[in-house]
Amino acid sequence: MKVIVAENREIASQEGAKIIIDQVKNNPETILGLATGTTPIDLYNNMVKDHKENGTDYSKVKSYNLDEYVGLDGTHPQSYYCFMFEHLFNHININPENVHVPVGKGDLQAACNAYNDALKQNQVDIQLLGIGSNGHIGFNEPGTPADSVTHVVDLKESTIKDNARLFFNGDEDAVPKQAVSMGIANIMNAKKVLLLAFGEGKAKAVKGMLEGEVTPELPASILQNHPDVTVIVDKAAASLLEKQY
Ligand code: PGA
Repeated sequence: MKVIVAENREIASQEGAKIIIDQVKNNPETILGLATGTTPIDLYNNMVKDHKENGTDYSKVKSYNLDEYVGLDGTHPQSYYCFMFEHLFNHININPENVHVPVGKGDLQAACNAYNDALKQNQVDIQLLGIGSNGHIGFNEPGTPADSVTHVVDLKESTIKDNARLFFNGDEDAVPKQAVSMGIANIMNAKKVLLLAFGEGKAKAVKGMLEGEVTPELPASILQNHPDVTVIVDKAAASLLEKQY
């Protein structure tokens, strides 16, 4: 895995955005795997800025998001569908018909199957990831098997707490207790992976991912088995690392 320890979050986000922008410039029909959460927001801001200043063209780009809360549809302000339009899709020239976010309402098994089929037909060129403080990627919580595909997930208490604090004004009861998430196997099928992690709260997970054993107990550790991963962290998230990068 290629590891970049950036001076701070701002620089890390610029570097991450550059990787995605270069990918889109090199292949205007790129299939992006996208993520939500606090981590990618600055990266998306940089993509928007670049689109406005340099006209990077997203008209033929497709996107597949990692996950969605069960019970929230695209009209709910905390849905990940809404998040993506607010932070990225409304501000670049991507065709709304080309964006895909898992569906968290209705017949969930049918929705998962349809998402898996779509991912089979559309191999992601570059998958953007954050990492949970418990090492999850997407909503693949500790214990998720490596061969998992898009599935319904029961969120761990730590994830509900993290997301309540960040997005639901601290109201844990308002956070859905389940999500639909791409599985580990879907994520590992991407041609490239770009993972960002910021802040002290991620240091333990980052250490386990990069320097620990590969174990389902820390889902991100499986990325050690992927041939093309770039990890960009700030100094705080890198603070427990023992090797030099
Ligand atoms: P965060 O979440 O970006 O809000 O820290 C990352 C994740 O849970 O994958």
